[in-house]
Amino acid sequence: MNIIFLGPPGAGKGTQSQIVSRRLGIPQISTGDMLRQAVSDKTATGLKAKAYMDAGQLVPDDIMIDIVRERLQSADCQKGYILDGFPRTVAQAQALAEFADIHAVINLNVPDEVLVRRLGGRRVCPACGAPYHVDRLGGKTTCEADGTPLIQRDDDRPETVQSRLNVYHEKTAPLVNYYEGMGCMKTVGGGEMTLEEISEAIFSALEAIQ
Ligand code: AP5
Repeated sequence: MNIIFLGPPGAGKGTQSQIVSRRLGIPQISTGDMLRQAVSDKTATGLKAKAYMDAGQLVPDDIMIDIVRERLQSADCQKGYILDGFPRTVAQAQALAEFADIHAVINLNVPDEVLVRRLGGRRVCPACGAPYHVDRLGGKTTCEADGTPLIQRDDDRPETVQSRLNVYHEKTAPLVNYYEGMGCMKTVGGGEMTLEEISEAIFSALEAIQ
């Protein structure tokens, strides 16, 4: 199954797509993680992307479309994949439709005030990308999976979070209508649901779409 996770920053796309990836045995492709790796490796793409990311703006469509087109050609994508953070504009969705068949879109719906709280308390593992929240870490400061010290992402500063939310509403939210019209999208969430409740709702939605 080729799946898209859609939703605002902090909606839980990374958290939930990792759970689905483990259960279905298909790769999670996070464009945000790929860009952060490129920034850290100081590649040409990373150097171009950094200023946009630091400002909470979207990296230009042509760069993102090339990155995803190339990634989907890898052998590990042949049995299915989960796109986490792509597409983010109607132009990206239209380009994707030319080189990929999408079977399911999961739209995570979370109110802005909850997103601001989540992103402010988020800590991530710089090695494997696993996200945590300070409220559930119980004072721990390292990744459960590999013991790496957790960090706060640069773009989780309050002023950048607000501009990411503005960009979401202006450029990415229109994709909800775009995919709704295709009949392969389910919206999950809408209130304060736990991680486990959301995972269950996602698996039910995927079964209903299949
Ligand atoms: P990206 O890395 O994709 O960031 P994002 O979309 O802003 O999403 P986040 O990673 O912030 O949140 P998430 O939805 O994955 O939530 P998470 O699971 O971590 O992109 C970063 C930047 O790269 C963009 O701003 C842009 O510049 C660029 N970029 C990337 N893709 C692009 C594209 N296609 N086009 C152009 N530019 C692109 O959860 C958040 C927190 O909440 C965690 O602490 C988690 O533990 C907690 N949490 C999750 N679910 C729950 C729950 N149910 N209850 C309580 N806490 C929860």
